[in-house]
Parts: sequence; structure tokens; C-alpha cells
Amino acid sequence: MAIIAPDIAIDLGTSNTQVYVKNKGVVLNEPTLMVVQDGKKKTVKAFGDDARLMLGRTMGDLSAVRPLEDGVIRDYDMTEYMLEFFIRKAIGTSRLVRPRGWITIPSRVTAVERKAVREAAENAGIRRGALHLIEKPFAAALGSGLPVFEPKGSMVVDIGGGTTEVAVISLGGIVISRSIRTGGVKMDGAIIEYVKQKFNLLIGDRTAEDVKFDLGAALKMNDSRRAFVRGRDLVTNLPQTVEINSTMIYEALKEPCLEILAAIQFVLERTPPELAGDIMRGGIHLTGGGSLLCGMDRFIATELDMPVLLAKEPMECAILGIGHLSENIDWLQRMIASPIQRDE
Ligand SMILES: Nc1ncnc2c1ncn2[C@@H]1O[C@H](COP(=O)(O)OP(=O)(O)OP(=O)(O)O)[C@@H](O)[C@H]1O
Ligand SMILES: [Mg+2]
Repeated sequence: MAIIAPDIAIDLGTSNTQVYVKNKGVVLNEPTLMVVQDGKKKTVKAFGDDARLMLGRTMGDLSAVRPLEDGVIRDYDMTEYMLEFFIRKAIGTSRLVRPRGWITIPSRVTAVERKAVREAAENAGIRRGALHLIEKPFAAALGSGLPVFEPKGSMVVDIGGGTTEVAVISLGGIVISRSIRTGGVKMDGAIIEYVKQKFNLLIGDRTAEDVKFDLGAALKMNDSRRAFVRGRDLVTNLPQTVEINSTMIYEALKEPCLEILAAIQFVLERTPPELAGDIMRGGIHLTGGGSLLCGMDRFIATELDMPVLLAKEPMECAILGIGHLSENIDWLQRMIASPIQRDE
């Protein structure tokens, strides 16, 4: 008798990968990260959470690999290894019939990038011909409880690690969308650049992200939060510590925040009037880890003079959306008229 694997849904994010197993819910949530040993043949030493624990403590021939960049696969082989590891971890290995799969993709991907995800997923253990690629903003909108199948316009802005996806959704499809390569990772990069310019100090990615969590804001705050950051002085090459404050980090994050705002404006300007009216009433819905940046919702609301709502669990919307799709296969029929469909 064949042992059939349960359907599996994966939100393959630039920063975090989450796995949802049918009728179980989210069973895995780990960074999209690996530690690899270089040599004649590269060997993977750790994935996800374990890789993060090793970060910063790696030595010699060990290096950290982020297989995705800007929402798309940068390192094909590594993505395949990682998916295989996460799929096994989520559902085990003693299956004779491979699972059906559902994976999120950015809304701007090329045919080649889609094919790369498909092949990596199939080689990693998803049943051939049984994989559905779902666009991230659709998954995020569904997961945040928006009425995506109704004849009503909803706007979702998913600010992830590598991408920001803005989409207007109605009748089970994306009416208009914009995907930009700006997200949390670019915010960290903006902080690194600012500290480099101002203090001649090079700080690491993790330090920059920590500073963003502690001091970052999309709006100018009337506070005097400060922090010490440690890095390498670019003049002397020696370790150095400097004091930074929240106003500096606000300045550093201005540009990525304005890019996100411009993407929303781009979509709003092209939204048909009836749907724009629905969005005016229902508000703009923010999801993704980047939407947790202090003041992001108020920044967008003030600039656009529109209601903005932050999802309850912004980092879980996409996985819950694609997970619910995997549990309700008949919903695919209602998506037929949209550009997001079963991938052949
Ligand atoms: N409180 C917070 N303030 C600011 N940024 C945050 C906060 N919490 C998480 N983030 C950022 O959110 C990003 C990760 O979000 P998320 O998990 O939604 O991305 P992802 O789905 O992996 O990426 P993508 O969808 O773009 O491929 C990281 O850059 C992280 O620094
Ligand atoms: Mg995401």
C-alpha cells in the first residue's frame, strides 16, 4: 500500500522559510540560511536555525550562504538542498508517494526564475507535475483575512526581507501589482552605508539588523534612543565603537521607506476607480516582517492620507494564505480568471 505524503505548502522567503502541512498548520519557521564548508566539494554543515547559531562563530573554511536574493533563487543547488532538508524535517522521509506542493513566488518573476523554483522543489522531493506556484501578495492577502475571492478591491503591501509586493486583489486574482527589490535587507544595507559614511566604520549585517529593531523608524520620533555599535574602523582597520541615535537611523531608512511608498503610489494611480473606492474604505493592509518597522503604518497613512492596517501576525500571513489554499484545492477554480493560476 502506498504511503501518501501530506500536501505541503512553503513560503520561500529571502529571510525566512516557513512550511505548512495540511491539517497540521505551520510546522517549520527557520531562516533561509545555510553554513557551508568550502573545499574541493562544498558540504553543507547546517541549515536554518542551526546555521544562524553558527553565524558569526564560523571560522576558516566555513561560510554562510543565503540561497535567495531579492525574493528569487540566487544559488540553485543550495536552494534545492535547503528545500530537501526542510521538507524532510516537516514530513519525515518514510513516504513512498511524494507530496503535492505549494510554493510562494514574487509577482515579478521571469519564466526562467519560475522554472528554477519548480525544478528545485521537484528535485527536493515534491511530486512531479503536482506543484502550484502562488504569488506572494495573493498568499499574504488571503492569510491576512482579506476577501480575495469577492468582487471587491483589497490592497496588500507585503514588505519582506528581499522584496516589497504591492497588489490590488479582486475576484480571486491580482488586478494590478508592483514588486520592488526593497525590503528589510535593503534597510539593513542602508544602515551599514550610513554608518560607513558618517563614522568610517564597517558594521556587520546582524549588527545593522539589531540597530534597525532597536532604533529604526519610518517616522521621525521625538525620542533620544541611543545605542553603541561595534565595527571595524576603515582608516585604522581596528575594532571601534561609536554611539548612534534614532534620528540617524531614521535618516538612513528614509530612502527605502520612500521607495516602498512610491511602489504603493504607483499601484494606486493605476487602480480602477471602483476598486480604489473599496481600498479607500477598507484601507491598505500591511504584511511581512518589514511592516513591523516602527511607524511604518503611520508613515504610509500620513503620506497617502488613507487608512492603513497592520496585520495581526505580519510574518505569518503568506504561509497561512498558501497553507489554506493547499487545504482547499477547489479555491484554485476561483482563481482561474486571474494571472495567478495553477502553473500549467
Ligand atoms: N520589528 C521589526 N522591525 C523592522 N524590521 C523587522 C522587524 N521584524 C522583522 N523585520 C524584518 O523583516 C524581514 C523579514 O521579513 P519576512 O520574513 O516577511 O521576509 P521574507 O518573507 O523572508 O522575504 P521576502 O518575502 O521578501 O522574500 C527581515 O529583513 C527583518 O529584519
Ligand atoms: Mg515573504
